Amino acid sequence: MAGLTLRRARRDPITRALTREVRVTVDQLIQPQFVVEGLKQRAEVPGMGDVYCETPESLLAQVERDMNAGVKAMLLFGVPAQKRERNFDASFTAAQIAALKRRFGADLWVAVDVCLCSSTEHGHCGVLTAERDHVDNHASVEALSELALAYAEAGADCVAPSDMMDGRVGAIRTKLDAHGYERTLIMSYSAKFHSVFYGPFRVAADSAPKIPSGLKDRATYQIDPSRPSDALLSSERDSLEGADILMVKPGLLYLDILKDLSTRIARPWAVYQVSGEYAALELLAAQGLTTSRGAAHREAWIAFVRAGASMIITYGARHAREWLAA
Ligand code: PBG
Repeated sequence: MAGLTLRRARRDPITRALTREVRVTVDQLIQPQFVVEGLKQRAEVPGMGDVYCETPESLLAQVERDMNAGVKAMLLFGVPAQKRERNFDASFTAAQIAALKRRFGADLWVAVDVCLCSSTEHGHCGVLTAERDHVDNHASVEALSELALAYAEAGADCVAPSDMMDGRVGAIRTKLDAHGYERTLIMSYSAKFHSVFYGPFRVAADSAPKIPSGLKDRATYQIDPSRPSDALLSSERDSLEGADILMVKPGLLYLDILKDLSTRIARPWAVYQVSGEYAALELLAAQGLTTSRGAAHREAWIAFVRAGASMIITYGARHAREWLAA
């Protein structure tokens, strides 16, 4: 009896394409966008190639280019000029959502990150206690729900809480429903780890934790990389609280989590290829140490889909047509 022959199905490009089990298409991709209040000129995000902090004007132009490149879904990060301790002001980000929806309407799907780290003086994702040594869960959830409502009112299709407070998905769902926004989706960063790979993002979003708070990092609210069962528990909880889309973040280093959770929890799964992971591939490509830039990113995207993601948040979405065709 002949042995198992696997190479026949690899012999030419057409056979290889026909026998593929996993495919990535541009309609699975979500493009992050940063928009910064008071910025005079768009500015490159360090290490991220052609990713920019946009002004309100340049944002509209960039989104239009991205849509012409086939991308229909964006994840918006608004960075307000005024930092506060409480009574956060949603107006800058809300105005950008409204401008996008006015210009592009239903052709554009706008998800908006809901967090406080770009709004607070200290850079933490929530409101600090009076002693400034702990993030107050209750006060933070209240503030986050208000922001989410303001974004829904401005026309966001989806709100995406990334703060990691307990109970925020349920609180946001209740608030949105009470105000008639039962069609606004919630994408929860349900399995978000305490990672060191958020570096370029924190420059772009001006959101690194700063002294003088008694808390030097986000370890008291984000998931410890050594505790995968926390990711399961928080994803199950967020699903029950009404999240429509669950997420694993970062991506490449957490493929085991994505595979495991997407098998266990029958919900649409997003994965976030975070700024540091993206920058690492860009650096490899810039140094000529990979066959091509596009092939490097494409291989990562295939891994995400293989592991169970139905959508990928990636800074390279705008290059997908070129990178996926290569
Ligand atoms: C805000 C937030 C972060 C990212 C998305 N939302 C940073 C953080 O938690 O410090 C990271 C995204 C990236 O690195 O691309 N809480």
